[in-house]
Amino acid sequence: MAIDGGAPVRAGRPLPSPLDASGRTIGPEEEAAVLRVLRSGMLSSVWGTEVAALTEEFAALIGSRYAVACSSGTAAVHLAVAAVDPEPGDEIIVPPISDMGSVTPIIAQNAVPVFADVDPLTGTIDPDAVADLIGPRTRAVVAVHLFGKPAPVARLRELTDRAGIALIEDCAQAYLAPVRPGGPLAGTVGRLGCFSLQQYKHITTGDGGLVTTDDPDLALRLRRFADKGWPRETGERAYLSFALNYRMTELVGAVARAQLRKLPAVVERRRAGAAAVAGRLSGLPGLGLPPDDGDHVYWYFPLLVDGLDEAGLERYAAALTAEGVPALAGYLARPLYAEPVLRKPLTYGSSGYPLAGREYPDGLCPVAEDLVYRRLVVVPWNENFTGADVDDIATAVAKVHTALVPS
Ligand SMILES: Cc1ncc(COP(=O)(O)O)c(C=O)c1O
Repeated sequence: MAIDGGAPVRAGRPLPSPLDASGRTIGPEEEAAVLRVLRSGMLSSVWGTEVAALTEEFAALIGSRYAVACSSGTAAVHLAVAAVDPEPGDEIIVPPISDMGSVTPIIAQNAVPVFADVDPLTGTIDPDAVADLIGPRTRAVVAVHLFGKPAPVARLRELTDRAGIALIEDCAQAYLAPVRPGGPLAGTVGRLGCFSLQQYKHITTGDGGLVTTDDPDLALRLRRFADKGWPRETGERAYLSFALNYRMTELVGAVARAQLRKLPAVVERRRAGAAAVAGRLSGLPGLGLPPDDGDHVYWYFPLLVDGLDEAGLERYAAALTAEGVPALAGYLARPLYAEPVLRKPLTYGSSGYPLAGREYPDGLCPVAEDLVYRRLVVVPWNENFTGADVDDIATAVAKVHTALVPS
């Protein structure tokens, strides 16, 4: 293996990366969008037309009645939680494998994240674990469509409807993912769907966010929360509710519109590359491939590796990286509940509010811990991989896997 001084599968030819133009789909359309806005002289979405058009186009593409734009995926989750309007100390159920942007907005609204364990094959929230945790103070469940694989939202919607609480879909990693073959798209099954336009996502504006809903009251609350509680529709200068400024700018909105037009092709290309790699790797003993019922949109390509300990998993990812295929052990360093912000907790001054007295011990979600520490390796994915690139990825995984995983 290259990590032991051998020849790497790819030398001197880095794979297309989402951190530069090689792994992004940005071209003359985005350039024209930026110039159009600059030349108009109107950079604010309060009076401009770009963000308004983006939200209409996005809602139409996803299949929701409304979309509201904001400044990031974290802001999108914050808008959604604020729209649900929990009482201080109410609980919101979340999975422990996600970006922290799925969780800190809950604390920002003075509610308490409660972590439900995940499915061992997909890492998405387990509805049985959710059912066990729903109690009198639960106000919502956040389902994260991890790596582009839809969480079981139909079941979660049944559960949450029965409990009279909200389902929030975190779709930051899952654009245009049907929740079942030929079915509705992620972001339209819950009461609210949250999307991110951060640099690594399927489409990007650097940062940016969108929230979908079919509910006009929720849509109004979302809009107001992103705009200081200001009722723009009446023309009155009033501040009708507690809110911040999370507005998207016209520059971001215009670039997002150009990106949106490319999204269906981006998803197709990501799926085609993933199918080629999965085809080459299937049957390798001790290697689990992402379950795909035609619904996976491959933000990342997750591998499930058998028989390793924590150090072994780290070495597996390092060995793949040394072969020229950047990979991460566990996706996260630790499940989100083990991060200092929750464990200490580090919230408002020294109060620990609203988490004081809450415990987030090791062992809270054993399936998630097994994935993060011992089983999961992720390969960041993108739509610009060529046939030769995906061949190299498959060759590198097979090489490292055969060397490190006893069959
Ligand atoms: C699942 C998930 N939720 C939320 C976020 C937060 O999005 P952002 O980085 O745009 O704030 C991200 C991305 O980083 C994410 O992957």
